[in-house]
Amino acid sequence: MSASIEEDLIHTFNGITFTTRSSLELLRSLATFEARDDDVLLVSYPKSGTHWLAEIIMLLHPSKVAITSPMEFGDLSKLEQLDHLSCKRIIPTHLDRNMLPPAFKLKQCKVIYLLRNPKDIAVSMYHYYRENPNLPTIDNWSAFCEMFLKGDVVCGSWFDHVLSWEENATDKSTLFLFYEDMKKDLPNVVKEVSAFLGADASEGEINEICAKSSFSEMKTNTEKENDNPNQTVCALTSNRRLVFRKGAVGDWKNHFTPKQNRMFEEVFAEKMKSSKVAKHIVYEF
Ligand code: A3P
Repeated sequence: MSASIEEDLIHTFNGITFTTRSSLELLRSLATFEARDDDVLLVSYPKSGTHWLAEIIMLLHPSKVAITSPMEFGDLSKLEQLDHLSCKRIIPTHLDRNMLPPAFKLKQCKVIYLLRNPKDIAVSMYHYYRENPNLPTIDNWSAFCEMFLKGDVVCGSWFDHVLSWEENATDKSTLFLFYEDMKKDLPNVVKEVSAFLGADASEGEINEICAKSSFSEMKTNTEKENDNPNQTVCALTSNRRLVFRKGAVGDWKNHFTPKQNRMFEEVFAEKMKSSKVAKHIVYEF
């Protein structure tokens, strides 16, 4: 891909790479965004299972809340659009916490932070880069793995993202969830989310939500829908159909060479040595 086309796809703000679908004007004006006391942030690094969790939250709250598109996705009109919503807002974002509008911090809005093991994220993101016309061309897995470790990908470094959110988390207002726990015991995670959001779902409702949010159900439904690229909970998504790839834990083993795995482990150990949440991360069952 020529440099000029690549420049049309991505740009940098505050040292972090964004797709040009997040306009610089919007990114600059986030600082002035007004939060509401009952806003809930759905925070994740891309490819952590954001669409899955958003589906669960939607099923927990039929019609009482709006799950918006990510606050950093779009142009300047975005802030006004979000401002006009009269119902309770669940706002997804891939932003590093340092870039979060200060009003959310001041109001101590609830945050759900979704984590996934970074090896599977790297693999998922690699395939996503290959399929998504809004992202630059990648030569091969080996080149992407290096870019990921350096944080030279959209939304910046996974390591810095997790650390930025963990360092400032308060027990009361932040719920950490793990993709792998969702795969292992979804009813329990749905129960936790229900309690955190005050949704009060019954056991029967929880079982129904688990069935409706299964990978196969979501994939089939998305293939049947008329796709609206603006109805997205991820700032990189041009097409929801690209999201539902494998939905598995441990696909990294089909991609990583022993040397790449060693390199990854070294960077992880160094970067995440102070992290408590990193200790909960599992790479396989
Ligand atoms: P893979 O590419 O490994 O398959 P996000 O929504 O944050 O973009 O994350 C996308 C990843 O979540 C993809 O991972 C996708 O398959 C997985 N995913 C989406 N819905 C899922 C579901 N219902 N169950 C399990 N995994 C799901």
